Formats: sequence, structure tokens, C-alpha cells
Amino acid sequence: MNKQITKAIKYIGVDDLDLDLFESQYIIPNGVSYNSYLILDEKVAIMDSVDERKSHEWLTNLEAALQGRVPDYLIVQHMEPDHAGSIKHLVDRYPEMMIVASERAVKMLPQFFFDVDFTTRTIAVKEGDTLSLGSHTLQFIMAPMVHWPEVMVTYEQSEKILFSADGFGKFGALCHQEEWACEARRYYFNICGKYGAPIQALLKKAAALEIAQICPLHGPILSENLGYYLSLYNTWSSYEPEAKGVLIAYASIHGGTAKAAKAFAEMLRERGVERVSTTDLCRDDMAEAIEDAFKYDRLVVAASSYDASLFPPMYNFLHHLQLKGYQKRRVGIIENGSWAPCAGRVMRAMLEQMKDIEILEPMVTLRSRMTPDNLPAMEALAGELAK
Ligand code: FEO
Repeated sequence: MNKQITKAIKYIGVDDLDLDLFESQYIIPNGVSYNSYLILDEKVAIMDSVDERKSHEWLTNLEAALQGRVPDYLIVQHMEPDHAGSIKHLVDRYPEMMIVASERAVKMLPQFFFDVDFTTRTIAVKEGDTLSLGSHTLQFIMAPMVHWPEVMVTYEQSEKILFSADGFGKFGALCHQEEWACEARRYYFNICGKYGAPIQALLKKAAALEIAQICPLHGPILSENLGYYLSLYNTWSSYEPEAKGVLIAYASIHGGTAKAAKAFAEMLRERGVERVSTTDLCRDDMAEAIEDAFKYDRLVVAASSYDASLFPPMYNFLHHLQLKGYQKRRVGIIENGSWAPCAGRVMRAMLEQMKDIEILEPMVTLRSRMTPDNLPAMEALAGELAK
């Protein structure tokens, strides 16, 4: 797919509709795009390559867009293989082309392409360095840990375009027209969630730039209403909730905990909680559960005890939240156990390791099934959550 971004800048990226799992863990029902761009000026620059899975299609796009010209530079903003995977194809094809990347990325190149001699093929850039292509000037902005440590983003000064690497990316191939925020949020919290502070630092640098368009490495080019996207990124990266509401995440072995979780959701709705969402951690998409946990300001975890510990799907969920830097939320706990309930103790211990988590009392303990005896504690916890 070749698409004109501006007169001199073309989209030459590719959609991937047959990848089973992104990063071998995330379902992508609508695929994903590996974006790449071509800038045609006195000098010709390619902005990132694509996953090697799609190198053939990408090289075809590139050839068509080049119209007989030869690239002078490949700008490598990120070394993760979904973007850097086709570098060797390009290096082999264009022996005069120079690779422009951060110092860290230059050091990483041989790790992925040990059989390529890069010694005379690279230009290492640092914060604020510029590269003139003629009427276009690329300004490099270091963005370490905006997913990986070698990441940089690039600002094209004449057309005011920010090439934002993984920032502002989303799941979903470009051939699928869909609302941006849902899959951008799932992408953000699962891929970049841990890196709120570096993303805040990048947003501060971006605030000093006049930006007309954002060209990320996944998902659509953003050209209108940029304040909307920047504001959501500010909320997400500062770990503030995006919406008032409660996610009830449950992990139930034989259905007793699930039934109690659903009854608890009704109690919250009756108390007027703005939005109540439930997720079955044994069956629903874990990445969506993580996304919703960050989206809302309150969370309830409900799980069975298992092997004198916690039922693994809930352990997995809380471990994911720990990894992604979950914080600043109010959380209620419902445990279940037929002879020695201990899930609550493990969930509490995991939550206590997270920053600024307020654990609400009382914790509810079910013994196999929810009974009328559980109602006072459940109502008390529901009252706390509805406050
Ligand atoms: Fe899209 Fe961090 O790679």
C-alpha cells in the first residue's frame, strides 16, 4: 500500500493479517500494521523497515515509491524486529545507503545481524542532532525506554511531522477502519505500560514542537485533533484513570466465584457506580483485562484458592499488573476457598507491592458458594467501592 502523507513523504508500510499473536502473546483480531515511510528530497530517507515476515511486500512498496531513485539513508528509530527485521535486505540491496540511529541502536545492530559488517554503514546520532535532506530536515529526539532503550523519535521540521516510533501506535491493520482509542489503549498498557515516566519525558519534549501530523510505527497516521491523542497519552502515562468505574476481574474454578462476582457487579450497579465491567480471567483476553484495569479508577479481584495459594489465572493477572506498573487505584478483594481459603492473603500481598494501592475493607471470604451469610460483607465492600 503506497499512500501520500505529503507531497514528499509517502507511506510504504504493510499490513499483517495472518500473524497469530503479536509479540507471541497478544491476540490481534484485526491484524497489525508495520509502518514505514519514504521521504523524497535531494536526499532520500526511509523511516524504519518492517517485520521480516512482510519484507517482500515492503520492498515492492519501496521500489514503486522510489521511482528509480536510490535511498541515501535508512533511519532506524527502534531495533525491535517488528520494525528492524528487514534491515539486512535493504543493506544488501543498497550498498551506499547509510543507517542513521541512536548510539545504542548502532551497538544493537550486530546482535540481530551478526553476519553484516556495519562498520562503515552507520551514523550514530544524539539528542538534537539534525540531518538535512534538502528542503526537509530531520531532528532526532532520544526516547529511551519508550519501549526499548535505543528508541528515538524524529521530527521533520519543514512539514512539522513527528515520526513517533511505537508511541501513538495501535493494534489493527490499516485496512480495518476502527475507532482509535480501544486498540491503542490495549496496545499502550500491554506494550508500553511499564514505561510511564519515559513517555512523560517524551511528551514534555513534544510539547515544545509544533506538530501537524504524527506518523507512528503501528496504526493510522494522526493528522487531526492531535490534542485528543496527546491528552490520552498524558493520562495513560501518568497512571491516572481515564474513566470512573469498576472492573471486576474473576478467576473461578467451578463457577462459584464467577457467580459471586456477577452478583457483586449488580450490587455496584444498584449503588449507582458509573460503569461496572466484568472479565473472566480464565477465558477472556488477558490484554483486555489489563487495559480495563488501567482504564477505570477501581478494581475488584475475585479468585479461588488453589494449592495453598492463588488460582493461577488470577496470579497471572496480578503479576501482569505488577509488571506494567499498576498504581493509584482503589481495590476490593473477594476470595473463595472450600476448606482453607488463602487466595485473599496472596492477592493482598501482591497488591501491597504495587504503588499507591488502597485495599478496601472488608475483604469478602466465600466458602465454596456465595450464601446469605456473605451478604453483609459484600454489601459493606460494595458501599466502600461506591463512595
Ligand atoms: Fe512495535 Fe516495540 O515494537
